[in-house]
Amino acid sequence: MEKREYAEDYPEKTLYIPGPTEVREDVIEEMAQPMFGHRMDRMTDLYTTIVEDTKAFLGTNNDVVILTASGTEFWEASTLNLVDENILVPTCGSFSERHANVAERLGKDVDRLEYEWGDAIKPEDVRDVLESSEKQYDVVATVMNESSTGVRNPIEEIGDVVAEYPETYFVVDAVSALGGDHVDIDAHGIDVIFASSQKAFAMPPGLAVCAVSEEAYSREVGKDSASWYGGFQRTIDYYDRKGQTHSTPAIPVMLAYREQMKHMLEEGHEERSERHREMAEYTRDWAREHFDTFPEAGYESQTVSCIENTQGIDVAATIEGVSEEYDYVFSNGYGSQLGEETFRIGHMGEHDRDSIEKLTDAIEDVAGL
Ligand SMILES: Cc1ncc(COP(=O)(O)O)c(C=O)c1O
Repeated sequence: MEKREYAEDYPEKTLYIPGPTEVREDVIEEMAQPMFGHRMDRMTDLYTTIVEDTKAFLGTNNDVVILTASGTEFWEASTLNLVDENILVPTCGSFSERHANVAERLGKDVDRLEYEWGDAIKPEDVRDVLESSEKQYDVVATVMNESSTGVRNPIEEIGDVVAEYPETYFVVDAVSALGGDHVDIDAHGIDVIFASSQKAFAMPPGLAVCAVSEEAYSREVGKDSASWYGGFQRTIDYYDRKGQTHSTPAIPVMLAYREQMKHMLEEGHEERSERHREMAEYTRDWAREHFDTFPEAGYESQTVSCIENTQGIDVAATIEGVSEEYDYVFSNGYGSQLGEETFRIGHMGEHDRDSIEKLTDAIEDVAGL
């Protein structure tokens, strides 16, 4: 790839994509501070604050790890930390498929429970596999919010099923959900759940957040090998001993995280979830008036709507037109499979119903709906 010079004058765009999303001004400003050392007391103050605030926000007693990485890190780390041999990955779209691919690349024996794209994972199917298989699955790994299809999987019920199998750990990719869709982590036996800072947490990219159960921690301790960078033992023990991270973190993003977590705690997890539910409901109603919704009915995401292009509009041209005329950016369908057949609106983080309406008005205008 040839160098393309970075320009100085890009127009500001409002982001309605499924992450990164809009970040508050005061949160962005936090990043512009003189640097300090990652072994200073100040770092302990910062890191312990963001970890404990995140536990409080999520309402979990599990350990929380915040690493300089994107959510992808925890696909890899959770597999290395928990899986000796067998992992079951229900797949219902691009991201769950990628989770399975990661585990395969790490040499694990991966069984997929495959669904059509747009369909949701059903707890009874997971039970059937766990009951009938001769294999002992170390992990069932499920995506909470399949960002490619806009499906919100019933991870609470799936967690209740997996909890009946004490040797099987439940890993949830909540990258595009956590922060905008409330989940009671401890009540449903979720051993590992992770998210990226740039999604419904509405922070800059650069950090991945992961809540880890005591059982998952112990499981890793008893294993011969595990992830070094994302090892639960290494990250959690370091926190317990020093209140810091094992290696140098993205300090500016952590400063932003601290500021945004204040806003999130002030709003509250359930209230934030309710605001996202309202945005999703508005977007679905709008979609049904002009197009249709893509996900299986009853399983629509609270943070990303995937809309079926039943009118055959030129999706790419509409995205471009809305960006040029309104400076709003939304997304096409994911990958070659859904590229023009669907489009996606990210209603997460700092958005509210009114700001989503501004986007849908702009789409109506540009597409002539
Ligand atoms: C469901 C899901 N999982 C994983 C990822 C990967 O996250 P990241 O790009 O932060 O590594 C994404 C990114 O969009 C996602 O939507």
